[in-house]
Amino acid sequence: MKRGSKPARQVPLGRARVAASILDADLGNLAHAVKRVEREGGDRIHLDVMDAHFVPNLTFGAVTIKALRRRTRLPFDAHLMISEPGRYIDEYLDAGCDSITFHVEVSAEQIEPTLRRVREAGRAAGLALRPGTPLAALEPYRELLDIVMVMTVEPGFGGQAFMEDVARAKVLKARDLLTHKLHGGEVHVDGGVNRDNAELLGGFGADILVVGSALWTKGRDMGREIRLIRALADEGYQYALNDGVPPIPRDKLVTFATLPRAEARTLRDEIEAAGIPVLLFRSAADPPDMDDGQRHWDLLLPAASEAAAAERFGSPRAGRERKTPA
Ligand code: DX5
Ligand code: ZN
Repeated sequence: MKRGSKPARQVPLGRARVAASILDADLGNLAHAVKRVEREGGDRIHLDVMDAHFVPNLTFGAVTIKALRRRTRLPFDAHLMISEPGRYIDEYLDAGCDSITFHVEVSAEQIEPTLRRVREAGRAAGLALRPGTPLAALEPYRELLDIVMVMTVEPGFGGQAFMEDVARAKVLKARDLLTHKLHGGEVHVDGGVNRDNAELLGGFGADILVVGSALWTKGRDMGREIRLIRALADEGYQYALNDGVPPIPRDKLVTFATLPRAEARTLRDEIEAAGIPVLLFRSAADPPDMDDGQRHWDLLLPAASEAAAAERFGSPRAGRERKTPA
């Protein structure tokens, strides 16, 4: 490849994803920062909102996020380090945040309604834990969680040292709080994440690695750092949690069933009601010019949820396929 030219944006394989925190970017040019993350292959933009009350630092709010929304297609992952997420949540929804994680240490009465508000808006809702807060603090809210965020630094600033003991105590166990989600539950790790601890975190099953200062180090190739961290996390997952087998690529789809349209739609609706997304495609087994009402349709779903779908919907699938042989 010619020196200086960038590889075309690769759709990342593997399981781990990197959410780039822009806290340590040039805050005087955030549009450039988010575009650079997108160009370099980052998976999400992690937006650290601080109110100088919940944490001793003040950054940016919903107005800034809204202004950045049109600058990139990457998902916005908001991390609200603010004392009153309930009071301001609609502003972050309106600003276009795809996921919103706030802290379980805020006053308890706002937690449940705010999680519900985020989910009603069709976004991913998360709770974050300071290093000193036990996972048990999330128990009362577990059914409302899409994201559990384990902080491995004290919230408030980028560039702090990674707390390995906190990671060892919480990251693997955090998954237990997401068992209600057949698909899409995510464990995020945030704080001091870099190439030195990515393999450890992948070995604890971390889905999203939030990386800040390690990406904005002068002279460092951001894209290479992102690919390195993802690869190391997948390596950790493969050997610590997956018996040496490479992880299922996060975005891989598999055909779960092939049925006539009406049957396919009914089974799709049942599976989606359980929280697993399904796509319907015209089955390649039938001639392309066949009438849609006559042809068979393939139900595709995320490979990572195939086992859960088979367990829950294997018999309805078999029943329908027996009734309507291909
Ligand atoms: C800290 C923030 C983190 C931080 C990550 O309060 O929540 O997202 O910006 O930056 P590094 O990777 O430098 O710790
Ligand atoms: Zn953060």
